[in-house]
Amino acid sequence: MDRQTPSLGRLIGVSALVCSPATGILLALVLTGEANPATALPAIGAIIGLTALLIRSFLGDLSLVILRMRIMTSESIEADRMEEGGPLPRLDVAQRILTAANALDRTWRKRHKVLRDQVWSDGQVLNNLPDPLLMIGTDAIVTRANEAARVLFNREPAGQEITSFLRDPNVLDTIESVLTTEESRQATWIMPGTVEREFEVRATRLPTKGVDGSLALLTLHDITALRRLEQMRADFVANASHELRTPLSSLIGFTETLAGSAKDDPEAREAFLAIMLEQAQRMQRLIEDLLSLSRIEMEEHSPPNDPVEVVRVLESVRKFLDIKARDKSMEIRIESDAALPPAIGDGDQLSQIFQNLMDNAIKYGRPGTPVMVGVALCDRGPPAMPAALRAPCLKVSVRDQGEGIGKEHLPRLTERFYRVDKARSRAMGGTGLGLAIVKHVVARHRGALTIESKQGEGTTISVFLPLHGAKRMGAVNAAE
Ligand SMILES: Nc1ncnc2c1ncn2[C@@H]1O[C@H](COP(=O)(O)OP(=O)(O)O)[C@@H](O)[C@H]1O
Ligand SMILES: [Mg+2]
Repeated sequence: MDRQTPSLGRLIGVSALVCSPATGILLALVLTGEANPATALPAIGAIIGLTALLIRSFLGDLSLVILRMRIMTSESIEADRMEEGGPLPRLDVAQRILTAANALDRTWRKRHKVLRDQVWSDGQVLNNLPDPLLMIGTDAIVTRANEAARVLFNREPAGQEITSFLRDPNVLDTIESVLTTEESRQATWIMPGTVEREFEVRATRLPTKGVDGSLALLTLHDITALRRLEQMRADFVANASHELRTPLSSLIGFTETLAGSAKDDPEAREAFLAIMLEQAQRMQRLIEDLLSLSRIEMEEHSPPNDPVEVVRVLESVRKFLDIKARDKSMEIRIESDAALPPAIGDGDQLSQIFQNLMDNAIKYGRPGTPVMVGVALCDRGPPAMPAALRAPCLKVSVRDQGEGIGKEHLPRLTERFYRVDKARSRAMGGTGLGLAIVKHVVARHRGALTIESKQGEGTTISVFLPLHGAKRMGAVNAAE
């Protein structure tokens, strides 16, 4: 500490000054003969000496304070130099304390701002997380919640007991066990409502209690879409196997009969072979539809680029289906605006979907009525189309005058294997995959699909296709 105190001469000078009133009185007493110089002078010396010692130790403490403050304000280089015995700046002690105090203040202000900014950005991160998140404290009271949680529970959960808005016993049990014993635990929660939602709830205990009293973190991850997808896959496999198994069983049955009891019956053989051929063709159609559906799905992410003269495609489909239409005393009529621009498309896929739509119109239309195919330019796509895609497009509608489709079936018609009347569809050679193929082709074309139907009057299915040369963006929402 010596190095941080003034020189000995200066120290004695300062001490003498501090003690001057006492030493002055003693000297006056010596001069007036009231005090003995032999005792008074050593006393003066002792007073000055003791005072010097006191000042020296006091200044030492002050220097320590300054040194510590500088270390706290990160003036570590200076502080290190002082600790190593470097010279002190020639400032007086009070000024040095003031400078150090100011520096300390500045540093704490800076640190406070950094912390405040950090807390703010952490809050932003929490709020922007797509999954609802809750922090839970003692007695299962929510200490903090993010925006997604506020939206999900339609309230401000912070400050409320979690049981007041989440009453599932499984989830509450999970929270309870994390607040008491376990590190983390998971549960599934079905959120009741008109449309049920399924969440994966994960509770995790915090390593230390948060300043706001938080003890555990609860995250809710929406797995409704995932579950639906799993269900759809399972249904698809079950449906596809069932559809294939039926004609296969029939083929096996007839083969056995032909090899056995009907062996020598030419009439039965002829009839059975015709049925077998029909069943084999049904299997073939099903496999072809399944293959084309998976092919379309595989390339759904890459939209086609080629210009397609849609009317020309429709004409060739009409030629192909003409005989089938005539068999039902029906006629396919194409009505189109003059000089239509080409659409962007894949000619083969568009031909396939128009064939599906016209085939349905013939199958489900009333005999003797026409199938009307209209092609027109349209200012913008239907509301089902994302706003960004609702540019001018080509609208192709296929209208029949059949018995129509019940309202309740409309949203599900484009699902694989969904039919209003299964037996009827099968009897007419349908696979139940036609409209699913249409939906995926339209999606690949970044177009839209609408189905309008009135029972007893007929059905109109329209496909909206982007024009060639128009700006293309985003993904598609094929109307169900
Ligand atoms: N134009 C229509 N009129 C009435 N019902 C239709 C029409 N188009 C499709 N449907 C109904 O939608 C179902 C699904 O159509 P689709 O996927 O083409 O399968 P399908 O192989 O049965 O034709 C049909 O089974 C039918 O019930
Ligand atoms: Mg069909």
